[in-house]
Amino acid sequence: MGGIFAFVCKDSIDVSIINKGLKKLIYRGYDSAGIAYLEDDSLVIKKILGNISKNEISVSDKARVAIGHTRYASRGWPTLENAHPLTDCNGKIAVVMDGILDDYEKIREDLIAKGHKFVSTTDAEVIPHLLENSTNYLNSSLNVMKRVKGIYSLVFVTIDIDKIFAINSGQPLMIGITQECKYVSSDLPSLSGFAENAIIMPENTVAVISWNDVQVYNIEGNEVKPEIKRVKYKEEIAEKGGFPHFMLKEIYDIPQALINSFNSLMEKYLSLASMIVYGAKNVYIIGNGTSLHAGFISSYYFSEISLNVNVVSAAEFPYYALKNVTTGSVIIAISQSGETSDVIRSIKMAKQRGAVILGITNSVGSRLALESNVYLPITAGPEMAVPATKTFTSTIVVLKVLSLYTGLHSGKNDRSEISSLKSEIEELAKQLMVRLPEMEKEAEKLAPKLDKESLYISSSGINYPIALEGALKFKEASMTHAEGIQLGELLHGPIVLTNKGYPVILIKPVEAEDLYNKVIRSIKERGDVIVTVAEDGDMKSIKATRDLTPISNVIPLHLLAYKLGVRKGLPIDTPPGLVKAVIV
Ligand code: AGP
Repeated sequence: MGGIFAFVCKDSIDVSIINKGLKKLIYRGYDSAGIAYLEDDSLVIKKILGNISKNEISVSDKARVAIGHTRYASRGWPTLENAHPLTDCNGKIAVVMDGILDDYEKIREDLIAKGHKFVSTTDAEVIPHLLENSTNYLNSSLNVMKRVKGIYSLVFVTIDIDKIFAINSGQPLMIGITQECKYVSSDLPSLSGFAENAIIMPENTVAVISWNDVQVYNIEGNEVKPEIKRVKYKEEIAEKGGFPHFMLKEIYDIPQALINSFNSLMEKYLSLASMIVYGAKNVYIIGNGTSLHAGFISSYYFSEISLNVNVVSAAEFPYYALKNVTTGSVIIAISQSGETSDVIRSIKMAKQRGAVILGITNSVGSRLALESNVYLPITAGPEMAVPATKTFTSTIVVLKVLSLYTGLHSGKNDRSEISSLKSEIEELAKQLMVRLPEMEKEAEKLAPKLDKESLYISSSGINYPIALEGALKFKEASMTHAEGIQLGELLHGPIVLTNKGYPVILIKPVEAEDLYNKVIRSIKERGDVIVTVAEDGDMKSIKATRDLTPISNVIPLHLLAYKLGVRKGLPIDTPPGLVKAVIV
């Protein structure tokens, strides 16, 4: 996955402007970056490891055609070999890609059997080899689109012709238009300062782009006339993909991240991971903050297959749980950053006692990924805001899939449940894409009601961890004290504070509807403020199957916490004194 930025111009311009474009796309990936440009009929390729906003690609040449990429490692480690651009065997074609290919392993095997030499372990490298020796790049691009399954977009250059070829197979690509140049980018805002108008490439199209012309073709090879939009974004918004805050942008990323997270899980690693969990003497699930809450949700999934797991804060684990860890123990360690010290310290200690470590992380090259015996990727894409949102919902997907695979070994689950889950996730994502703008408006309207000193968030069963998670988001994003509490427990004392005007956000549980109604009545008798999160609630959550309700219910809480933070004028993405990964 990653961000793409490229240009083709009438006259040579500074190649280094690619750095500027890529910096605006940093939210799409920051593990490595690279540029390819045409110089004297050959391709020059430069790559760096790490974050391009901190370390530019050093290039002083001018060129008429150049392509660039900033990478989020999802398939293959964050190494220079895996950094884009990637080339064919002859070094004549350079490709940068955003997205994930589903069936690349088979294609790669076929190409290797035909004599192609691969230098990386990333999925995107199949593309330049598929294009190798092409005599008609438009036709070859259409063939790539037909043959290679996945959700991706890509751009390539070849020394044969001073044009850029672009394929949109489900990931966004925009073409900025000026008199003298055409620019290609993964989003519209990053084109501000480069072009005032841009073509939005429709899905499943190929574009042939020269400095003075853009032709777009559908999969049948017929020319189409796509929409042209004006590019007008403030600089600070451009870096957040057009959103005022990363947190909001990342909430809007959730639907796609759910699908990517499901699709990125590979059968061979799932089989291995689930076999390890199934054969474990005892299972501990560790993490901190949001990752710990995802762990709590998974305990409900594992209990469906009669597997008792111990969910423990990674900060507490060494003091209390570690003593029961021996050979045969399995530690499922969850950390979106993969760098949290509590997690790393705990897994190192557990390893010394003979435990097997199953890491779950959103960062492929992280310490957690490196220290784990086997790891499963979260694949939510880079998350920039300190309040975690899309990594949480995607972690839930990974844990649900892991539990289903574990149940296959004991015969509690069958394969049809995996394909049903895929459809359920797709349906949820589809509905979310439509509903998110309305939910955002609902949250904006309700935020003033919650602008109080403190509040409760309450639910039951599999949605109780969502109450904890929501409370954490209110603290981080809106600097409001919030307490997550089990529904029934509200009546055992805490309800007294609702008299003080402390609002209660009630998440309708899947089971225990009678309890939910009883709590509503009890609070209303006191005349106090309730905001309900339910299909028919004040914040309308999307209908989902029981195991996906934590995803559909947490999003309204994300939005409420966010809107309250906006109302208070807070630095939502970077709450004072907090960092994205606690590594001390
Ligand atoms: C979440 O919004 C917080 N920023 C924080 O609690 C976080 O979840 C925790 O520090 C764990 O981070 P990790 O997933 O990167 O390990």
